[in-house]
Amino acid sequence: MRLTVIGTGYLGAVHAACMAESGHDVLGVDVDPARIGALTAARPPFYEPGLADLLWRGAEAGRLRFTTSLAQAAGFADTHFVCVGTPQQPASGAADLSHVEAAVDALTSSQRLGTDGGTLLIGKSTVPVGTADRLARRLRATAANADVAWNPEFLREGSAVHDTLRPERIVAGVRSAHAEARLREIYAPLLAAGVPFISTDTATAELVKLASNAFLATKISFINAMAEVCDAVAADVTTLARAMGADPRIGPRFLTPGLGFGGGCLPKDIRAFVARAEELGLAESVAFLREVDEINQRQRRRTVGLAERLVGGSFENRCVAVLGAAFKPGSDDVRDSPALAVADAVRRRGAEVRVHDPEAIDAARAAHPELQFALDVNKVCEQADVVLHLTDWPQYRALDPAALAEVVRIPTVVDARHSLDPVAWSRAGWTLCAPGRPRLCPPHAEDGVVGPPH
Ligand code: UDX
Repeated sequence: MRLTVIGTGYLGAVHAACMAESGHDVLGVDVDPARIGALTAARPPFYEPGLADLLWRGAEAGRLRFTTSLAQAAGFADTHFVCVGTPQQPASGAADLSHVEAAVDALTSSQRLGTDGGTLLIGKSTVPVGTADRLARRLRATAANADVAWNPEFLREGSAVHDTLRPERIVAGVRSAHAEARLREIYAPLLAAGVPFISTDTATAELVKLASNAFLATKISFINAMAEVCDAVAADVTTLARAMGADPRIGPRFLTPGLGFGGGCLPKDIRAFVARAEELGLAESVAFLREVDEINQRQRRRTVGLAERLVGGSFENRCVAVLGAAFKPGSDDVRDSPALAVADAVRRRGAEVRVHDPEAIDAARAAHPELQFALDVNKVCEQADVVLHLTDWPQYRALDPAALAEVVRIPTVVDARHSLDPVAWSRAGWTLCAPGRPRLCPPHAEDGVVGPPH
């Protein structure tokens, strides 16, 4: 089939490449010429394992092209995936739909759209409930035969190619049998491989995405709230999470405590969900999500507070080494990165802060030019008064704590991701502290921490 993919960010670039891999003839569209140049040269504009190979293969097979022209896109195919961003509006937290609307308007202004009776716009961007219906009305004002479907995407950055080629489900929000048949045709290879296809109305499809992200965020904030309780009663949150996760009704995934969630999706999606629910008069139904957000933000402040106490109560004249800038491992995305938020808060409180990340330094420097960055862990840790482990890259777990102890001024580490081996690090002379694991760390009166057992 011939398809266009409008918007080539994390979602659209991967979707375009995967659609070409599935055998479709794909045209990717974006307003950013630099991005289109990179994709045309099979260079992913961001770090995403496996994407470069797919871009090459798609280009070589002649099934994957890119353009900045929406008019060209309108003429290229009858099926258009909308994958543009829906950023957070600063004041209200609601989703900004201007990019989605601009894409739809640009398509409809093309004379060719809708003339053959089969144009289908398939939204993949995360949008407030009711968007598909509103877009359908907008579209039909100029293109009477055009239709809108919603097909939310659940890919995770860092495993986006895998998630797109082997999704756990395909959710198809449709307004007509014709639209459902088109979606089934597009995803035929996945359906043949047994991927469940859940067909529903567009409002439910939009809601599946919002509810899924809200649930994941709630699960993370739940275990982080339990970490706060553990700190107060000298219990251990990692053991608590393991024991809770062993119950198949709960499950271990998204129950890793620590610094909380960040990135371009979970934080903004729960805020947009709350804003939309409030618009609908449903503030009470989603009030808990405000608490989920607040618990999440609090983990950043708690980590800063813990580090400050460890360096003697003030960051003035202290040198802080930060391991990690990306919002999670396997990505160079620093949008709403908990690691960078902590690094910047520590800097603003007077510390000299040096940050390491294996992939995200360029993006982090652009977002926080006032921080110092280096690609060498030893350089970042040189003469540090405390090391903060803030993004769970596997390379940090593989560090030699004995060698690193020689480099720092004081061998103290805050393991805010709970993945360093406390035994190995303490044997190498480190004081290792982790939120929700007070027994690892010397007791501190202000924490309300009971302290290690005698
Ligand atoms: C998320 C959803 O998982 C995905 O389905 C949706 O399409 C987009 O949003 P992503 O933003 O790529 O994907 O990241 P994800 O892997 O979900 O992690 C989100 C954040 O939660 C990260 O900051 C991660 O470090 C944090 N996290 C995750 C935890 O703190 N604890 C956990 O147990 C899991």
